[in-house]
Amino acid sequence: MNTRFKKTVVSKSPQETMKIGEEVAHILMKGDVVAFFGELGSGKTTMIKGICKGLGLPQVVKSPSFVFLRIYENGTTVYHFDFYRMKKKEELVNTGYDEFFYNQGIGLLEWADRVRGFLPESRFEIVMKVLSETEREIQISHTMDEIRERTQKKRADKMDK
Ligand SMILES: Nc1ncnc2c1ncn2[C@@H]1O[C@H](COP(=O)(O)OP(=O)(O)OP(=O)(O)O)[C@@H](O)[C@H]1O
Ligand SMILES: [Mg+2]
Repeated sequence: MNTRFKKTVVSKSPQETMKIGEEVAHILMKGDVVAFFGELGSGKTTMIKGICKGLGLPQVVKSPSFVFLRIYENGTTVYHFDFYRMKKKEELVNTGYDEFFYNQGIGLLEWADRVRGFLPESRFEIVMKVLSETEREIQISHTMDEIRERTQKKRADKMDK
């Protein structure tokens, strides 16, 4: 039986997509990578805004237009990558990406399909589809099926503090 975690929701507005992002933030832990897939305007950056809000990062989140990476910091560090304009894989290697993917921050990666071979084996995946002008299908999963376990762990961590 395939019991792999996969949740699909439909958002009816950018605000709702942000709220879903805030919820996702609550299960994220340091060192996590979230790979976003989905066409132009499907809502990846909007969702990332919600995640950052949920993580308590007040910065203005926008698509990194001429850079691949923006860093937001406030106790938690977020590495916001956008690989849309990346032409060659070598450009990724030059960013020293693995330091970002495997350290104590949280990596949020737009256009993750462009760097598929570089993604860590254990990662969240968020697939966004445009259903209509205001509706987006959002599919959330984890490649290692760790979501339920970690929700419990995170709650326990909070109680320890
Ligand atoms: N339900 C929805 N969720 C998210 N965005 C929506 C929704 N309905 C409409 N939109 C609009 O779709 C656009 C999404 O833009 P956003 O920058 O988040 O997409 P993106 O996937 O990051 O695009 P890009 O690939 O260019 O980076 C915004 O203009 C937003 O207002
Ligand atoms: Mg974007």
